[in-house]
Amino acid sequence: MRLDRFVSQATGLSRSQARALIRRGEILLDGLPVKDQARQVGGAQRVERAGATLALPGPLYLMLNKPCGLLSATSDGAQQTVLSLLPASLAARLHLVGRLDKATSGLLLLTDDGAWSHRVTSPNHHCAKTYIAQLAEPLVDDAERRLAQGLLLRNETAPLRPASLQRLDALRVQITITEGRYHQLRRMFAALANPVVALHRQRIGRLTRDERLRPGQWRALTPAERAAVLHCGKMPGADPFGPLPKVQVITE
Ligand code: URA
Repeated sequence: MRLDRFVSQATGLSRSQARALIRRGEILLDGLPVKDQARQVGGAQRVERAGATLALPGPLYLMLNKPCGLLSATSDGAQQTVLSLLPASLAARLHLVGRLDKATSGLLLLTDDGAWSHRVTSPNHHCAKTYIAQLAEPLVDDAERRLAQGLLLRNETAPLRPASLQRLDALRVQITITEGRYHQLRRMFAALANPVVALHRQRIGRLTRDERLRPGQWRALTPAERAAVLHCGKMPGADPFGPLPKVQVITE
């Protein structure tokens, strides 16, 4: 890793503040001042500032309540991304664990632990994700059966894995899927001739979004919550992990 990046991450200072420290000779590498901010730092080297050894912080895991209207991307030339909701020092470190459409709200995870995010998003792990969808019209009678059998989406050759559906009221459903194809739920309900009006992700694995987080707010996961995300398992019957608390689906 570059020295300026290391100093920025270890101190929580911005990259330009870290560079200023390096230029002023305040950073020692193995006991000697270094002024080359691009110098590579390896695991065995000692980086010091003002007599204290600097160390990178441990891995970080966050849940964020994504508002509608923000892109799930680390950067975009034109549009605001979810990372703009975080302080710059965190945003520079973290990546998104999966994505939500711009018009979808709800539970989004961020981390700098690549192995963990791979386990959550890998198609082989079939991690269950539960959403509340508001539909344009009441759902056809045989929707549960068709979703449980696995729909075949337009322009695809392999049918979807079974999805479980519960009707919450005339127009709202709770649905759990265990894969993450492009615009999957919007396309699934389009296949049932019933467009999604609003979509909110409420749960990943056994982790439910913290109801106290208002749209745009985030917090760190506890170790138990981190483990709960990985409780992906095979989806059993109608409802993998029990009913969800009532949620308000927020439209744009
Ligand atoms: N399915 C969709 O269509 N959109 C999302 O954001 C998530 C699942």
